[in-house]
Amino acid sequence: MVTGVRIAGVGMTPFGKQSERTSRELFAAAADEAFTDASVSRDAVEELFYGNFMGEFAETQGHQGPLMANAAGVVAPATRLESACASGSAAVRQGVQSIRSGDTDVVLVGGAERMTNISTAETTEALSAAADGLWEISAGVTFPGAYSLMANRYFHEFGGDREDLAHIAVKNHENAVENDLAQFQRAIDIEDVLEAPTVSSPFGLYDCSPISDGAAAAVLVSDDFAEEHGLDAPIEITGSGQGVDNMSLQGRKSMVKTPAARRAGEMAYEDAGLGPADIDVAEVHDCFTIAEALALEALGFYEPGEAISAARNGETTIDGDLPVNLSGGLKAKGHPVGATGCAQLTEMTKLLRGDHVNSDAVSDASVGLTHNAGGTVASCIVHVLEVVE
Ligand code: COA
Repeated sequence: MVTGVRIAGVGMTPFGKQSERTSRELFAAAADEAFTDASVSRDAVEELFYGNFMGEFAETQGHQGPLMANAAGVVAPATRLESACASGSAAVRQGVQSIRSGDTDVVLVGGAERMTNISTAETTEALSAAADGLWEISAGVTFPGAYSLMANRYFHEFGGDREDLAHIAVKNHENAVENDLAQFQRAIDIEDVLEAPTVSSPFGLYDCSPISDGAAAAVLVSDDFAEEHGLDAPIEITGSGQGVDNMSLQGRKSMVKTPAARRAGEMAYEDAGLGPADIDVAEVHDCFTIAEALALEALGFYEPGEAISAARNGETTIDGDLPVNLSGGLKAKGHPVGATGCAQLTEMTKLLRGDHVNSDAVSDASVGLTHNAGGTVASCIVHVLEVVE
């Protein structure tokens, strides 16, 4: 029988501007917290999977597997995974597969990104490498630009407007107010969003996730290991899925659907043996406000064209039927790209365990979902987490 994969412990640095901290320092801090939380010794780790996207560009640093093993104090095979902004979840998924295969009982997974030690222009250039070099980067596409094309097309096909998007930003900033790890712990209102400087129409400043430094880590263990060592590990990763799509927007049938997310979601739901109606709480990849709506539609929570008004209608707010991004999401918590996927896992674990600042809002929740996208959702990874004891 395939073993279950328990989340024994999680750790995360604050996200934000901390350019003086190298990514190895950031990851060491997150891993340290994860080991303490797990009550698992570093010596027990049999593999490390680590996500990072732009280390060569920001820190002139490749070969990060062994570097991060050294930083975390583990002596085990160590591999870096890269899937643009989904790199952290790629590391988590690799860890899940390693334990399920029977190869390992204990893995350290996580990711880090240092982004603010270089200029915004340089970071924008580095991030653009997640788009198609031949057809998009060469034409000057940046990520705010690419997602604004998707937003404008969404308005054209389904309706909706900037104010709908503003409600998503307001919701996620509100959720982050009490989250000490978040980059922006301040509430904003609709006028703030609508009157902010334009970044790429229709997006203003508050439609965009920020540029951030940070790291996250988790210790994953098999059922047997958790039992033998008497670990308090009540959260299991019961579903894992990954999807792919055409790399460039211009190669897609639709610019307002994200089939990579649909495929990842379907795979994760099937793996967990449940569906969208069973999910109590979700952390989705809101790198830009429109991305949250696209995610909720791809994951089957809403029909195409309907999710843009979900925040405005109070359906995805903290007291809504499906609270989304209770951490503050990428929008307000921050988005150090290689760390984000594992940070979603960290926040969801705490939400379900009951030790997150927003746990009280979801005290009955037993099933959570994380959705982490790469590029303009050319890649996507979804995990389902359940409380099992
Ligand atoms: N949301 C809210 N406030 C933000 C912000 C954001 N996304 N980005 C910056 N700020 C705030 C800063 O805190 C700062 O406030 P202060 O003056 O009170 O200290 C102010 O805006 C200026 O910050 P600065 O860092 O100079 O902004 P910038 O103009 O260099 O960068 C963006 C702003 C939107 C261009 C940048 O955050 C960006 O490129 N975001 C998208 C990142 C991205 O593409 N990620 C990958 C997604 S796929």
